[in-house]
Amino acid sequence: MAQDEWSQVDAYLVGKLLPEDEALEAALARNRQEGLPPIDVSPAQGKLLYLLARLVGARNVLEIGTLGGYSTIWLARATPTDGRVVTLEFSPDHAQVARENIAAAGEGSKVDLRVGPALDLLPVLEKEGAVFDFVFVDADKANNQLYLGWALRLARVGAVVVIDNVVRGGRVLDAASADPDIVGTRRMFELASAEKRWNATAIQTVGAKGWDGFAIGIVEKA
Ligand code: SAH
Ligand code: DHB
Ligand code: MG
Repeated sequence: MAQDEWSQVDAYLVGKLLPEDEALEAALARNRQEGLPPIDVSPAQGKLLYLLARLVGARNVLEIGTLGGYSTIWLARATPTDGRVVTLEFSPDHAQVARENIAAAGEGSKVDLRVGPALDLLPVLEKEGAVFDFVFVDADKANNQLYLGWALRLARVGAVVVIDNVVRGGRVLDAASADPDIVGTRRMFELASAEKRWNATAIQTVGAKGWDGFAIGIVEKA
C-alpha cells in the first residue's frame, strides 16, 4: 500500500537527517495526549519550514494556525533571539497546549501567540504596523484566499509565503466540490493566478501525512 511505503521512506529520511529532538517529540506527545487532531506538519516538513525561514533570514514570522505549536517551534528556532513569531490560533484549548509546548522548548520569548479568529487578528497586526519576512498559512482552508490576501498585505517585498495542504489527496481538482476546504483552496489558486505580486509554485508531497502539497512564493513589488 502506497501510504505504508511513503511513511517508511519518511522515517528513513528523518532518521538520516533529523537528529532526535526531545522538545519536538515532547510537543507531539503532549498534543496527542491532550487530544489535538494529528494534523501538525510532519517532522520533515517542519524542518523544511525551518530551512526556508533560515534561507530568507526571517526575523519576523507570521503563522496562521498554531494547533499545539509544533510548526511554531520549528519557525521560532529559525528566528534570531531579537526576532518574533506571531502565531494565530482560533481555539483557546489548542493555544493553551501550544503555550506549554513552546515554553518547554525554550522558545517562549520569541513567540507571540494570539487567540481568536485569524480574520479578526490580522487587521490588528496591520494597525500595529507589523511587517513579516515569512508567512506560513495553515489554518482553516476555507479562508485560504483571504489569508493569501492578508499575507500579501503584511509581507515585505522579498518575503516568502507558504500555504499548507493545497492538494488534499487530489481533491483540489474537484471544481464541483461543496467542501469549504476545497472551495477555499481553489479560490486561493484563483487569486494566486491573477496576483502578479505573488511569484509562486506548488509542490505535491507524499509522506507520513499522505498525499498533499504546499504552495510557496516570493512577494514581488506591486
Ligand atoms: N501549523 C500547525 C497545524 C495547524 S492545524 C502545525 O503544523 O503544527 C490548523 C489550526 O488552525 C487548528 O489548531 C485550528 O484550530 C486553527 N484554526 C482553524 N480556524 C481558524 C481561524 N479561523 N483562525 C485561526 N486559527 C484557526
Ligand atoms: C488538516 C489540516 C492541516 O493543516 C493538515 O496539515 C492536514 C489536515 C485537516 O484539517 O484535516
Ligand atoms: Mg497543515
